[in-house]
Amino acid sequence: MADPGEARRHPDVGSRTYAVRKPLAEWLRREAEVASRRPQRPRLLDVGCGIKPYAPFWKGVVSEYVGVDIANPGAELEGTVEQIPAADASFDLVVCTQTLEHAADPARAVRELRRVVAPGGRVLASTHGVQVYHPDPDDYWRWTHAGLERLFRENGSWSAVTVEPGAGTAATIGMLVATLIWFLAKRARVRPLAWPFIAGINLAGGGLDRLSTRLRTPGPGTIFANYHVVAEP
Ligand SMILES: C[S@@+](CC[C@H](N)C(=O)[O-])C[C@H]1O[C@@H](n2cnc3c(N)ncnc32)[C@H](O)[C@@H]1O
Repeated sequence: MADPGEARRHPDVGSRTYAVRKPLAEWLRREAEVASRRPQRPRLLDVGCGIKPYAPFWKGVVSEYVGVDIANPGAELEGTVEQIPAADASFDLVVCTQTLEHAADPARAVRELRRVVAPGGRVLASTHGVQVYHPDPDDYWRWTHAGLERLFRENGSWSAVTVEPGAGTAATIGMLVATLIWFLAKRARVRPLAWPFIAGINLAGGGLDRLSTRLRTPGPGTIFANYHVVAEP
């Protein structure tokens, strides 16, 4: 059977969500590499796990991979990020990708992520700066880097919180244009024709961002598709 996570781990350059998925996969791959150097294999909790697209990165790295989700037969535990069905400090790594925007109460969700992570552990969360509305089952929130950092710092005591954008400003604006092209091509039933345009936009956006630190670094005038948060208890 085809692996549905493959397209998330190796996103196609002609995909309209490339600016979100490509940096996200690279970041998680690097985090798994860092975790592989731990003296003891960590326990990992994936909150809002969906199809667990990134689980293969953690194979051989973690001692246990536990998924939590709502109405998902592929998850080991049924529950929400606002009320995680796990004991305090019971996981060394808590991953929560592209889920906070779907949580009705993100402040409570962050407190729950803090509660279940063990001392010396790490929470890895990602969520959108800008993105089209995509209910799953609903879609409530978007953040700036400053707002997301504040959400974490104000909810739970953390020794460190870092928030980094995934793709830069040019790739993000490219993603919005690519989304419009994709939508129009879909309406006109010529979706395959959109691929070269979207691929060109994604490549050009990434190239521009690589040329300019200002486009990649949060500051006035920047805009980011997605953020990666590392929070340490
Ligand atoms: C966009 S998908 C992301 C799935 C996966 N983490 C990924 O990165 O591909 C959002 C996931 O969040 C789950 N979800 C939505 N609301 C949630 C909540 N309040 N608590 C936990 N999971 C939730 C959905 O069921 C879905 O699996």
